[in-house]
Amino acid sequence: MNKGGAVVRSLLLGCGAYLPERVLTNAELASKVATDDEWIVARTGIRQRHIAAEGECTSDLATAAARRALEAAERDAKDIDLVILATATPDYTFPATATTVQANLGIHQGAAFDIQAVCSGFIYALATADNFLKAGQHKRALVIGAETFSRILDWEDRTTCVLFGDGAGAVVLEAGMGAGANSDRGILTTHLHADGRYRDLLYVDGGPSKTQTVGHIRMTGKEVFRHAVVNLAEVVGEALSATGLTPADLDWIVPHQANLRIIDGTARKLGIDTSRVVVTVGQHGNTSAASVPLALAEAMGDGRIQRDQLVLLEAMGGGFTWGSCLVRI
Ligand code: UT7
Repeated sequence: MNKGGAVVRSLLLGCGAYLPERVLTNAELASKVATDDEWIVARTGIRQRHIAAEGECTSDLATAAARRALEAAERDAKDIDLVILATATPDYTFPATATTVQANLGIHQGAAFDIQAVCSGFIYALATADNFLKAGQHKRALVIGAETFSRILDWEDRTTCVLFGDGAGAVVLEAGMGAGANSDRGILTTHLHADGRYRDLLYVDGGPSKTQTVGHIRMTGKEVFRHAVVNLAEVVGEALSATGLTPADLDWIVPHQANLRIIDGTARKLGIDTSRVVVTVGQHGNTSAASVPLALAEAMGDGRIQRDQLVLLEAMGGGFTWGSCLVRI
């Protein structure tokens, strides 16, 4: 519960996104693997996904989204002293892709590192940046979610290859003072969870230490679906009870864009009308850590999400990991 008294708030100043040029439609996919547009749309809501060009890396997507976020926030790269990049598809095993993005942007001060929480990565990164800003250790953060999942898909496995796509989204956070009330602008509360017992339901079957390969995504979709609806409704409930707010107080929900049925099911469970839920999964599929900022950038860019509105971000992914972030724009 926000009890009042001056506090540091992480203000969300601007958001940007980037999708690679190449679009892969359901119809084109159906010519390569045993699937069809009707099945994909009915089961997931996905109509197309974007695929990074040859040689186009996660850092390139992230840099493009970060530039747009800086522009929207009216801030210079030289003002940034923290770069956190959420990704499960880094350019290299090391160094962190965040350091490449930092260099691309000409930032030479502060810290830069990656966060790996798969589809929940952007929420984990937001929570991390918020705590650094609240602690006074950094002043202005670029928080990015960027993925090239096309590089870790098994293109012969129809149960996964139709679901994912490439993309990036970013926000600029800046430390400012608030009154400690729910009417403050900025991040009001964040909630993170993980339960590694569910690792085998959604994972990549390769890695530097275990197999010395990159590996491919493996998923038991039905089980992930079942957990997602329960966990996401719970973690949204946590954000509301931490602030003493109700679903009716939320102006928007910006959910992880994995499956329209999960998005609708979670909204129904919370009693939130779908007209207040931002949905972009149809245009880019599941872009993992990029999906929440991609949806946020679209709704902020087209004027749906307005200054002073209350927005709930949520995501769930491999691990399992899941989390929520309540922010007043
Ligand atoms: O980002 C967080 C992680 N990801 C998720 O949140 C994803 C969670 N899971 C899901 O979104 C859904 O479980 C899926 C979309 C992956 C699958 O939907 P479903 O309704 O759970 O379908 P299913 O796996 O039970 O498969 C139903 C049928 C099966 O055929 P049979 O066994 O009933 O004959 C599948 O073989 O659909 C078949 N199928 C397909 N058919 C056409 C599976 N994939 C495809 C496909 N095209 N691409």
